[in-house]
Amino acid sequence: MKIIITKNYRELSKKAAEIVIKELQKRPKMVICFATGSTPLGLYRNLIEAVGEGKISFRDVISFNLDEYYPIKKNSKQSYYYFMFHNFFNKIDIKKQNINFLNGETKNPEKECKRYQKKLKKYKIDLQILGIGVNCHIGFNEPGSSKDSGTRLVKLEECTRKENSRFFKTKKDVPKMALTMGIKDILSAGKILLLASGKKKAKALKKMVEEPPNKDCPASFLKLHKNVIVIADKEAACLLKKQKFYAKRKL
Ligand code: F6R
Repeated sequence: MKIIITKNYRELSKKAAEIVIKELQKRPKMVICFATGSTPLGLYRNLIEAVGEGKISFRDVISFNLDEYYPIKKNSKQSYYYFMFHNFFNKIDIKKQNINFLNGETKNPEKECKRYQKKLKKYKIDLQILGIGVNCHIGFNEPGSSKDSGTRLVKLEECTRKENSRFFKTKKDVPKMALTMGIKDILSAGKILLLASGKKKAKALKKMVEEPPNKDCPASFLKLHKNVIVIADKEAACLLKKQKFYAKRKL
């Protein structure tokens, strides 16, 4: 796990974009799995800019997304489908037919997860973008998730619903379930880039970095992967034992 600490969120987003841009310039036909939430928004803004400047293109990229609420209508402003199109896909040159999403409208979640899992097997993910939940979730793999978990329907923890209620009118409106790729699916990616920003992520980040892989902190399973880059801003990294060491390393 390579850890990079940046001064602030702006630098974090810039550094993350540099990494994605470099990868994409090397391999324009990449398979990228995206995350939603507040954290990657700065990265997405930088990537949109890079497309506008002609530095990169998503023309040949195949995309997947980590998760989706269940049930939820695609055109609901709170769906992750809406989030990705509104904040990113509509502003870059990705082809709609290359975008893969878990369908939160399905009547048969089990069948939908099998369909997605099959697609994931067909296209190996080259780059996985992740955020981290205050409870250490990655995707919607809540504490208790096993390292062998696959794409499935899960129950959201109350703290996740509370945390995500900022995107809804009230907490009651946050769906109780979600469809998510599993830890095993995430670990099968060639490279993983995890972003963490702000003080409220500090405890989760400390657990992920300093604890051995364990189910109470699903993000800690990333230690089982050989190619993980963590970019955290100073606030998110403030509880790490070796923060001075990480901060001194050249970006
Ligand atoms: C979203 C996802 C979640 C978020 C996490 C952090 O697709 O997979 O695991 O990455 O909840 O969310 P933010 O960035 O909003 O703090």
